[in-house]
Amino acid sequence: MKGFFTICCISFCVAIMVGFTDPPRNTKGVEQAVLFYKTQSEVFAQSCVQLQIAVAGIRQDRPSTIENARKALWNCRINFKKIQFFLEYFFKSASLIYNKAPKYEIEEPFMEYQEPIGLQVIEGLLFENNVEAKKVDLLQQTGAVSSSATDLNALLYDFKADDKQLLESIRLELIRIITLGIVGFDAPLLKSGIAESAASLEALQFVLKPFLTADAKHSDSVSKYLAASISFLHSNQDFDRFDRLAFFTKHILPLQRHLGLLIKELNLELNTTGAVLNYDAGDIFSVDVLNLTSFPHEGKPDSSLVQLGKQLFFETGISGNNKISCATCHDPAKYFTDALPQSIAFDGHSHVQRNAASLLYAGFQYRQFWDGRAKSLEDQVRTVINNPQEMNGSEESLVALLNYKPGYKTLFDRTFPEGKGSKTNTDKVALSIAEFVRTLNPRNSMFDQYMKGDTTALGTQQIKGFNLFMGKAQCGTCHFAPLFNGLLPPFYNVTEVEVLGTTKTDNLEKPEADSDRGRINIFPISFYEKAFKTPTVRNVSATGPYMHNGAFKTLEAVVEFYNKGGAVGLGLPMSNQTLSAVPLKLSKEEINDIVQFLHTLKDSVTTRIPLPQRTTTNNINHK
Ligand code: HEC
Ligand code: HEC
Repeated sequence: MKGFFTICCISFCVAIMVGFTDPPRNTKGVEQAVLFYKTQSEVFAQSCVQLQIAVAGIRQDRPSTIENARKALWNCRINFKKIQFFLEYFFKSASLIYNKAPKYEIEEPFMEYQEPIGLQVIEGLLFENNVEAKKVDLLQQTGAVSSSATDLNALLYDFKADDKQLLESIRLELIRIITLGIVGFDAPLLKSGIAESAASLEALQFVLKPFLTADAKHSDSVSKYLAASISFLHSNQDFDRFDRLAFFTKHILPLQRHLGLLIKELNLELNTTGAVLNYDAGDIFSVDVLNLTSFPHEGKPDSSLVQLGKQLFFETGISGNNKISCATCHDPAKYFTDALPQSIAFDGHSHVQRNAASLLYAGFQYRQFWDGRAKSLEDQVRTVINNPQEMNGSEESLVALLNYKPGYKTLFDRTFPEGKGSKTNTDKVALSIAEFVRTLNPRNSMFDQYMKGDTTALGTQQIKGFNLFMGKAQCGTCHFAPLFNGLLPPFYNVTEVEVLGTTKTDNLEKPEADSDRGRINIFPISFYEKAFKTPTVRNVSATGPYMHNGAFKTLEAVVEFYNKGGAVGLGLPMSNQTLSAVPLKLSKEEINDIVQFLHTLKDSVTTRIPLPQRTTTNNINHK
């Protein structure tokens, strides 16, 4: 499904504004792009009018009228895709009415939200059981879209931009195609993603022309991969059967890499993404494509912090009874989980409410915990240490630990020399452990090996599984590439939460609703009822049982849950489910292929993270 609530991050907007204050220099590409935009936005506006006419003609007893409206929407979307790169980059706020996800976007902490609007909402309505019954809504939506579209040219009044900006808009559009277009994020029911991606690339092919000159070294390869990508899309139009892995590795990722090289060669680099994206990385699957330091953090990366953090991670002395360390519930040998449905609480016999998440890739999130209640890893560590149910530690217990073990005092003093600001011991522990957790990104799975060029790393079944994951099964519309978590492309500036209606048990024959209310406990707004953060599926083959409640014992059961359309598909009441309730119609074999693909996302972890010496602190007296 399309992303749901967007946890806002203003740093990107700020970055864009800063980018725009650069004095414009080279503009030959911009001039051509502006002409292109002028013509194409009129074509788009025309197709919006056609859509409105088609919608007005809808009659439930005449299926061809509904078919016509869907075709008109298809056409409209294709025309939108030709100007998307330009519109979304230069006129972000004006662009929102066209292709926004059909969801309530909630602005935290103000709890304001906007009604869903635009082509994606229209798509949903055109696939309702009784479309004619939705005609009033449809006419209102198509009317709004088409009246705004007539103003698209007016946006150019007093428009100034330079080639650096234009090229960045093209870069970002490529990422959009790879991570969203091809997976059908924008139009899961219409399944127009392949044709739309071709339309986007054709637009880029046109506006890139002024840069593809004979004297530019990388010009030939950019032209070649562009043409090959477009032709592959045209000759493989079946959305469900599209070979995404082949398209990625043979065509569009090489295109992304060469475009990067060309931009560098032309000296026209610009990065307004708040440096979240590392444009030097090559392509979106390169291991260094996301900049860890752009995610929420309180400290500065430094190896002494990591060393101390690693030691403290295994230190039972930070808990109130000297028996529990982070590793108790996040054991490296179990891929930083405890392999239990719900972790054992501080008292040693009852259970905490939720399943212990793996910590691998936890640093690449804007929110921690299943309900996103902690805003940074540091914040998260403080919460766990002080939680009476988990570690039940305190500032005093940490002082006791430091006094008891002189080694620690030296380490602490070395890592936090006097004069670096006064911090509590809890803060120092939080900074160190958080910095250690940030290092847990091995990116050495078979899938990563394959994307690095080792074509023997994946078998046929696993390749089929990837293609299903990113296509027919719609997994990639929430578990976004490259980390397959809730980080929303192309800016990777929000971590999304979604409502699936995860059941209380994995018995889908007799589904029961789970009582955990999720994010609504943090922000009391009805759309957050049972909303949970989208976790990464990297390493899931080693981190069962699954989901926030640990209710799903196998990956097959998880995929079967999706196959049935989540809670609503299973017949449970759930008014705000964001997962599509339409069954995916995956065969047993396809489910198995997806599971086999998930297995390829397992890193080799234990070899990379040697266990530090266990410390025995059992006889510290805290009180
Ligand atoms: C008693 C078991 C337990 C202990 C001890 C524990 N955790 Fe956790 N951890 C959990 C559970 C359960 C969750 C999920 C809770 C939730 O989301 O509400 C979690 C979640 C997390 C998350 C969030 C991951 C994500 O993707 O949202 C991080 C990070 C984390 N723990 C790190 C730590 C660190 C660091 C320590 C030591 C300071 C620690 N934990 C100690 C059980 C534990
Ligand atoms: C609508 C968005 C959405 C879609 C589509 C989606 N997921 Fe998820 N996924 C989530 C969320 C949110 C969770 C956490 C749900 C919870 O804990 O209740 C999750 C959890 C999971 C988990 C459990 C991870 C863990 O560590 O416990 C797996 C595995 C998974 N999804 C795989 C898939 C696969 C495979 C598909 C495609 C068949 C898919 N997902 C489609 C949003 C989505």
